[in-house]
Amino acid sequence: MQDIVEIIKSRRCVRQYQKDAVSDEDIEFLINCGIHAPSGFNAQPWKFLVIKDKKIQDKISEHGKRSLIPMIEPMKDTSQKIANFLTFLKAEETSIFYGAPVLIIILGNENVMTVDYDCAMAAQTMMLAANSKGIGSCWIGAATTALMDKVILKELGVPEGYKAIAPLIFGYPDAETEVPEKNKTDIIWK
Ligand SMILES: Cc1cc2nc3c(=O)[nH]c(=O)nc-3n(C[C@H](O)[C@H](O)[C@H](O)COP(=O)(O)O)c2cc1C
Repeated sequence: MQDIVEIIKSRRCVRQYQKDAVSDEDIEFLINCGIHAPSGFNAQPWKFLVIKDKKIQDKISEHGKRSLIPMIEPMKDTSQKIANFLTFLKAEETSIFYGAPVLIIILGNENVMTVDYDCAMAAQTMMLAANSKGIGSCWIGAATTALMDKVILKELGVPEGYKAIAPLIFGYPDAETEVPEKNKTDIIWK
């Protein structure tokens, strides 16, 4: 049994991947871990869309870049991080999915009140499960605007009444990822 605290603390958002595929068995393992996440009233309001096809990933990436650039452009002088993100988005070779071999989008039932929390719980559970197997991961919020487009959702076969909540990439890391600064948080004791 691996130490859960070690798995939690060593999980990093991975942005450089090896070309090696994640096996279907491992993809199913991740999803089977995800569905053990808690959900309000045990609604389990999720479905999992697995996209290995690079052409489909690229289409979502290009749509995401096109829709995000005009949103971020006016904010570019507010922080260096935003300016860097804009440069990243504008580069022709950029894929917002960093060439990861698999993208898993957690879809949530729009009629369930707790759906956003439930799917985020499943997402973190999957990312931790991935780390336990040496598989890197990252939540790609940059795909969100593209995944709000009804045409794209239809093309992806997303069932009516479901929305895309957590676009997650998985693959074997190609480099060590530094631990980003973690702020000391405030704890309010009563
Ligand atoms: C909701 C959400 C959206 C995110 N979107 C992106 C993204 O679009 N691109 C990216 O490279 N990282 C994205 N991240 C990853 C964060 O940048 C990363 O978790 C953060 O920098 C902390 O690093 P760590 O996960 O290695 O601790 C996202 C994370 C979350 C939770």
